Amino acid sequence: MSRITVLYDEETIVKRIREMAEEINRDYNGEPVLVVGVLKGGVFFTCDLVKRLTLPVTMDFVSVSSYGSGTKSTGFLKFKKDVDEDVSGRHVLIAEDIIDSGRTLTMLRKVFEEHGAKSVKTAVLLDKPARREIKDARVEYTGFVIPDSFVVGYGLDFDQKYRNLPYIGVIEEE
Ligand code: PRP
Repeated sequence: MSRITVLYDEETIVKRIREMAEEINRDYNGEPVLVVGVLKGGVFFTCDLVKRLTLPVTMDFVSVSSYGSGTKSTGFLKFKKDVDEDVSGRHVLIAEDIIDSGRTLTMLRKVFEEHGAKSVKTAVLLDKPARREIKDARVEYTGFVIPDSFVVGYGLDFDQKYRNLPYIGVIEEE
């Protein structure tokens, strides 16, 4: 059995996403943006964020696995699903549920830059800095900075379970 304690309830999450969206709306100042959600965990955050953007938005998704090489930002990124859209000349905003080691976001950013994106920024709901391996991993928009505990819900899973919880909770194995 697992016990889950609430870290951020639904109201708190949505309030913070609204603030993030306001900041993004200000920064992009009416420019079109291609929002790329990272499956599967990032799907709830991506949808709740784009609903609050007042910019011309196109949505796309990727599904990736990242393989590390220690603390270096070089590594291997395997696309299980690539973007459908052409990123060249576009403002790309990557939307993720969580940054841990920083590998996924750093490599995704690099790929989109190499494919000629006009700009690449990242928005993450949760940042777990204690787990960072890529020290210079950049995130432009952060929802919450969290401690080094195992979090589930709102897209985040434990063994593919709990993604559907409407809140973010800390899971403790009993
Ligand atoms: C999680 C999360 C990020 C990545 C972050 O995905 O959704 O994509 O790990 O970790 P990193 O900063 O160490 O690269 P996961 O591979 O668990 O897949 P999922 O989203 O399908 O659960």
